[in-house]
Amino acid sequence: MNPQDRCTSHRWLAGCGLLFALVLTGCGSKSDGSKNVLVGHYASMTGSEATFGRSTDNGIRLAVEEENAAGGIHGKPIEVITYDDKGEAREAGSAVTRLISRDGVVAVLGEVASGLSLAGAPICQESGVPMVTPSSTNPKVTKTGDKIFRVCFIDPFQGWVGAKFARENEKVQAQKAAILHDQASPYSVGLQEEFEKAFTGLGGTITAKETYTAGDQDFSAQLTTIRSSEPDVVYIPGYYTDVGNIALQARKLGIQLPLLGGDGWDSAKLGQIGGKAINNSFYSNHYSHQDPNPRVQDFIKKYREKFGETPDGLAALGYDAARILFDAMRRAKSLGGDEIAAELAATKDFDGVTGLISIDADRNAVKPAVMLEMKDGESSYVSTIEPPQ
Ligand code: PHE
Repeated sequence: MNPQDRCTSHRWLAGCGLLFALVLTGCGSKSDGSKNVLVGHYASMTGSEATFGRSTDNGIRLAVEEENAAGGIHGKPIEVITYDDKGEAREAGSAVTRLISRDGVVAVLGEVASGLSLAGAPICQESGVPMVTPSSTNPKVTKTGDKIFRVCFIDPFQGWVGAKFARENEKVQAQKAAILHDQASPYSVGLQEEFEKAFTGLGGTITAKETYTAGDQDFSAQLTTIRSSEPDVVYIPGYYTDVGNIALQARKLGIQLPLLGGDGWDSAKLGQIGGKAINNSFYSNHYSHQDPNPRVQDFIKKYREKFGETPDGLAALGYDAARILFDAMRRAKSLGGDEIAAELAATKDFDGVTGLISIDADRNAVKPAVMLEMKDGESSYVSTIEPPQ
């Protein structure tokens, strides 16, 4: 329910008696002294990255349900307020401002896309309200300040994972790679740099570097240049809608090479958009639904029961981020920003669906990555790559 709905129901209920209305809604009240503990979530619930926001929100809501069933935080239920930022930086900034100044949330979850987390993080930092991004992997996000945390690995690691896989996997074994990235996305720009550094460091060469901008429809010029540079693999660190379209056009142009990417590919929509064109493609991710670990399978079962679909990596990360935040809130003596942030920073060996999570001195998590292969529209597990010691 968004606050608009909450306020509507409040007005409606006012006729039934003020006490009744307050008990049922808590509309307009700040966390202090109110019945519920308010937590914010800003997310792309619509737009070309809509599955990112929706999956994350589902994961968060499952965690809230469990937390509240177990008694909530200091005896109060948690209430999550989600605002749709439509995948746009300006909307992300105003969503975070609204959550903090109007709703008075004690902490913020989000965003998925690094570029949007970079829009929201400075507002959280300045207001002293802790923010936990489940899934933004660009290193700059947590460098914003001491109130900004993440529960996922960062792109210097993810770029290395992709490069190592490109060099060593038997189906790829690439000596030469071409790169096609989104020049307007901090995630894509950062990840292609890390891939290039690692790939050349492992003895490979880059044959072409081409760019696009999210939402482009025609990639033929870039793909033609890439084709004539004769690579063994094409690295495309973008988000699923663009990647699906790129794959379709690449295959049409006769590029049958393996395509390789990062976590931004993770959506059931990738297979729907790309169809057969996305076969012979691989991407690095935070989680595989085929992981036999009972913790993973138990989560999948609960999620399927509630939402009727198999959770993707974002659902798993949203669930983990929310649980780590609630765990920190439970340990905190008060729900002030400094207290919650101190407990978030103290998170050690939290047994998450996406792995064992410890927050390091830079407020990042160090975790293994998985490599997945796209087969007939579905992702299938290939291998796990541990962080270098
Ligand atoms: N890591 C991506 C980013 O920083 C977001 C993402 C994470 C997308 C996981 C899909 C899955 O922009």
